Amino acid sequence: MAKTADDYFKLDPWKIVEEGFNPGYERVSESIFSLGNEYMGVRGYFEEGTSGDSLLGSYFNGIYEFSRKEALSHYKGIVTKPHFMLNAVNWLDTAIWLDDERLDMNTADVKAFYRELDLRTGVLTRSFIWTTKTKKQVKIIFERFLHMEKSTNGYQKISFEPLNFSGDIQVQTGIDFNTKHGEEPISFWEEQQKGELEELEALAIVGQTVTTKQQIFSGFHLVINQDYKKKRIEAEKKIGYSLVVPLTQNRETIIEKLVVNVIKKEEVSKDVLWLEGTKALADSVSLGYEQAQKEQQDYWAYIWDQFDIQIEGDEKNQQGIRFCIFQLQQTYHGQNPSNNIGAKGLTGEAYSGHAFWDTETCCLPYYLFNNPKAAKNLLEFRYSTLDAARSRAQDLDCRGACYPIATLNGEEACDLWQHASTQFQPSTGVAYGIWHYVHLTDDQAFLYGHGIEMLVEISRFLESRGDWSQLTKKFGFYGVMGPDEFQVMVNHNAYTNYMAQQTFDYTIKVLERMSVAMPEQLEQLMTRTGLSEEEWNNWQHCAEETLFFEREDGVIEQHEGYFDLPHIDIDNIPISDFPLYSHWSYDRIYRNDMIKQPDVLMFQFLYNQRFSKDSKQANYDYYEPRTIHESSLSPSIHSVLAAELGKFDEAFDFFSFATRMDLDNYNRNTNEGLHTTSIAAAWMNIVYGFGGLRSDGEQLVLNPVVPKQWTGYSFRIEYRNRIIEVKTSTTTVALRIVKGDSILLSIYGEERLIDGKGSELSTPEEWQLQRS
Ligand code: BGC
Repeated sequence: MAKTADDYFKLDPWKIVEEGFNPGYERVSESIFSLGNEYMGVRGYFEEGTSGDSLLGSYFNGIYEFSRKEALSHYKGIVTKPHFMLNAVNWLDTAIWLDDERLDMNTADVKAFYRELDLRTGVLTRSFIWTTKTKKQVKIIFERFLHMEKSTNGYQKISFEPLNFSGDIQVQTGIDFNTKHGEEPISFWEEQQKGELEELEALAIVGQTVTTKQQIFSGFHLVINQDYKKKRIEAEKKIGYSLVVPLTQNRETIIEKLVVNVIKKEEVSKDVLWLEGTKALADSVSLGYEQAQKEQQDYWAYIWDQFDIQIEGDEKNQQGIRFCIFQLQQTYHGQNPSNNIGAKGLTGEAYSGHAFWDTETCCLPYYLFNNPKAAKNLLEFRYSTLDAARSRAQDLDCRGACYPIATLNGEEACDLWQHASTQFQPSTGVAYGIWHYVHLTDDQAFLYGHGIEMLVEISRFLESRGDWSQLTKKFGFYGVMGPDEFQVMVNHNAYTNYMAQQTFDYTIKVLERMSVAMPEQLEQLMTRTGLSEEEWNNWQHCAEETLFFEREDGVIEQHEGYFDLPHIDIDNIPISDFPLYSHWSYDRIYRNDMIKQPDVLMFQFLYNQRFSKDSKQANYDYYEPRTIHESSLSPSIHSVLAAELGKFDEAFDFFSFATRMDLDNYNRNTNEGLHTTSIAAAWMNIVYGFGGLRSDGEQLVLNPVVPKQWTGYSFRIEYRNRIIEVKTSTTTVALRIVKGDSILLSIYGEERLIDGKGSELSTPEEWQLQRS
């Protein structure tokens, strides 16, 4: 893979550090320094404004609007009005003047610029010395953080220390709903109400989206450690104070801004919201800045204690994996089932904030093994959008429920028909997610309640969308696109066929169990969903007769006719042609055997233990050389399989992009936001890849191997009320139950009982890599 690292940020095991201001890199830095707490996210933009290149991005999970661009198609089933995550209120809004000169990082004389994100506290700081045209020098430090648990709360602190003068500084601080959406630069916000909350010495404003009628109350209270003068300022969609603060040479003046943002995804009366916002702001004021910061530190201390992955002998990947865990945790931790994980999290507008099949296939394992409640909430999100999926199935002239390829609110938002109308991996992904979640947690209540209802509707959709071959009399899917998005409108895509077959099988198994153990509940389900025995038998028939093309050497054909496609040698594609979507005509991408991302290998990864090593080997050896890994999800999946097949160098090569995809800007598009779902794949890359975890069998399997570049690593996983610790060195593996009961695990092919005392095993020779 032709990718190079920018090596821009400083190496540090616990911090992301930028030394010196580089205006040309600002958008990348803004993405890297994004903060989030699942409820809201804010890019690392300069709150005082800049005339330089910047995306002032402030986003809220589930706050969206519809595009105003002209509808392009009248064909049925094609999305004409996509929705997108909307850039929202600028609650950090600030402006600073000294002697009539406004601070603008892009033009100001600034020295000693230093920006740091501390992963142990979630606090972002930026400091520098500003010399004005009148030669005054002032040291300025900005600090901000979002409370991870009291998720409406945001905090900003600005400190000024004059180095060679005493005198006034003028600061404007407030809340601004005039934010333009980056992709469609018009304002989608209207002002509903604004004013002073006298008893709190605070200002607040309520903004509402023009078409979706969602609302945000945003209010703030200031604490300043000395006397100052203030004047209220108001403009359209904006409220704030203009402050005049007298500074004293070599003394620090600190302005703390305590902000509360209360969102309403469904419209409520503005009086109700005003009251709720006022109450939340009162709570925040009584908590205070320092106490909030202390709570924040405690939160992250707990997270690192539970979820940290320690890597010995590799500072780069150590920093990389901690950055991944930090960003995942910030983006989603199961606070609210109406939230999901966008491909870019809450860090930018690319992919419009949408959640994809990435959630169930790449992100879910992180939560399954760290925070099962969050895993459940991700599935509850799909349940809460089941009606939208039902209606999408109807748009496609099918029955049941078809989950969207890209969404925020459950409706399909992808306006590329060849994806939205022909990719069914979100639907089979939801079924897979239900199976994986229940398999690991044994949450029967979920399975026999929301889980089975989704399974029935997905199976129903798959049966109605699938078809029967005239020649072979076999079942499968026609005119589809599998995970490999370089093959459009193909028949019998192996991934789609296989995942549908598994969905039918699992749905039937659950229904059969219900018929024995809970006939009444089954009857209610059948009445509620209109399920008949005939339909259920049809699914059985479809599953039994699903078509696959497998060669004698075990290679499964990616789709009917794939083996006949013209071959291109991907190693001969010039680096300058990448990304291909921008350099090759769209249809040219579809006319050969080049693969974007794992397809056959993807289902061999998901249902790993159902395939023999020989089958995985044959398919890996055939498909990997044809894959260009244009999707950032691709390298990690290949790395996990390569490690399993003993191709450790290859596994490490693929892995080198995983943890630092964004920190090193490998894909040259971190400026648009982080690759949040790839970040989850990076976690899998270590735990499933080098740790050898397999979670699709009866027992958890671990086959840890330490890459040559490392001297050891350790991680913890949560499993059925236990915490299991895995610590490796080049020659040993130590396993211990940190919390909960002992457990039987399969380690290097042998069953072992692991308990609280722990066991240390010698790594078998075939799992020890030669080190130079
Ligand atoms: C990949 C999809 C993925 C999407 C969002 C695309 O480039 O091909 O599989 O769902 O990105 O991450």
